[in-house]
Amino acid sequence: MKILTEHIDVPNIDTIDVFMKHGGYSAVQKALKKMTPDEVTEEVKKSGLRGRGGAGFPVGMKWSFLAKPEGVPRYLVCNADESEPGTFKDHYLMWKSPHTLIEGMIVSSFALGANTSYIYVRGELMYVINILEKAIQEAYDKGLLGKNILGSGYDLDLFVQPGGGAYICGEETALLESLEGKRGNPRNKPPFPAVKGLWQCPTVVNNVESIAATSWIVNNGGDAYAAIGVGRSTGTKLISASGHIKKPGVYEIPLGITVEDFIYSDEWCGGIREGHKLKAVVAGGSSVPILPAELILTTAAGEKRLMTYESLSDGGFATGTMLGSGGFVVMDETACIVHNTLTFAKFYHHESCGQCSPCREGTGWMDKVLNRIEHGQGRKEDIDLLVDVAKKIEGNTICPLGDAASWPVAAAIRHFRDEFEWHIEHPELATKPGAVFMRKGASWTK
Ligand SMILES: Cc1cc2nc3c(=O)[nH]c(=O)nc-3n(C[C@H](O)[C@H](O)[C@H](O)COP(=O)(O)O)c2cc1C
Ligand code: SF4
Repeated sequence: MKILTEHIDVPNIDTIDVFMKHGGYSAVQKALKKMTPDEVTEEVKKSGLRGRGGAGFPVGMKWSFLAKPEGVPRYLVCNADESEPGTFKDHYLMWKSPHTLIEGMIVSSFALGANTSYIYVRGELMYVINILEKAIQEAYDKGLLGKNILGSGYDLDLFVQPGGGAYICGEETALLESLEGKRGNPRNKPPFPAVKGLWQCPTVVNNVESIAATSWIVNNGGDAYAAIGVGRSTGTKLISASGHIKKPGVYEIPLGITVEDFIYSDEWCGGIREGHKLKAVVAGGSSVPILPAELILTTAAGEKRLMTYESLSDGGFATGTMLGSGGFVVMDETACIVHNTLTFAKFYHHESCGQCSPCREGTGWMDKVLNRIEHGQGRKEDIDLLVDVAKKIEGNTICPLGDAASWPVAAAIRHFRDEFEWHIEHPELATKPGAVFMRKGASWTK
């Protein structure tokens, strides 16, 4: 079942004529001519669509929180900053099929009563920005943007803004600061963007994939979307699959398939590369807890884990993880968990905006301590020190980057403590090029 990528391989689908030949912009026709903004919102609520940027907050509910004071403009801002390591699905969708996002922007802006909307795109992706700008011009030329769209009386201007070049600019309030031309520092909340967002006006910030899905929901109805998936994990999800698998790429899956099927079936990742075994997975982008092979395939209760928000988080952080942004990074037995954890820690240290001390100082400490373990200078007490620093960051910062930095470190130690100990106890072995710890009796070393 494909919703966002059904026509993605059609030649020239990035042009408006080909896109329209395949049913493109029918949701705009339907929403603007036959529905009220509240009716569109109602369908999105019924669909159960949850935010695809990472937190999984219900999109329709977020829209209904938008303040609507008389005479004050409202904005829709699309978060296309996509800088989370392991995540590259928004980039793929915008590059291959820009009109899928633009159609969703028009429908969603109409529902929210926004007359000016923005797509904030990761600044490094200049070619995607050019593709979007060309597609937006095509939409203006066809009367799908601008004044009195399709004679409906609804006006919308849509702008693309290149991002500021930092991961933190993907955090929604930092993004708004950056969009206003300032340094991308997260704001204290409340007030939330729904009340005071862009230029202190009510604003909704949604992920590319969340916004793109709304056209299909308008065309087919919220109930049809909710019929796909399992429980509160409705619809389809784009998964960025990378690492030691046979077929890396972006896959649109119906939520609810098993993790095992996703990794091993030829329809998706095609299994672990030849001659190797699954060791661990980071299932939802670098911020979510890593899980070892046995816990990613089945829950602690022995049930097959599903690609859903609920199943992936089953067991809490003790034995579970998160679907997050769908950045699915697979590691075989050649991957060193200490090295991987250090790579993530360096990233978060580098990307901390420095506003709050637990994040600014703590990410630096974790980077430093992991660095010495990795390079054969670890101390016995370092593992507990890392756990302690991670705990002190978590929940004590202005924005969730602090949590995102602490979870990968805490989870790596929770599930691979013996690997950290081996690095500290056998520095001469651990620092040999290519040397990796092999746990006796583990499924990946048997
Ligand atoms: C450090 C950090 C980076 C983030 N980066 C992104 C991003 O690149 N894209 C995104 O959609 N959400 C990102 N988010 C989440 C946004 O703050 C926000 O929750 C999201 O854009 C809301 O959209 P959704 O409800 O459709 O998921 C990030 C959050 C944090 C804390
Ligand atoms: S948690 Fe980190 S990134 Fe977020 S505001 Fe504080 S210092 Fe900045």
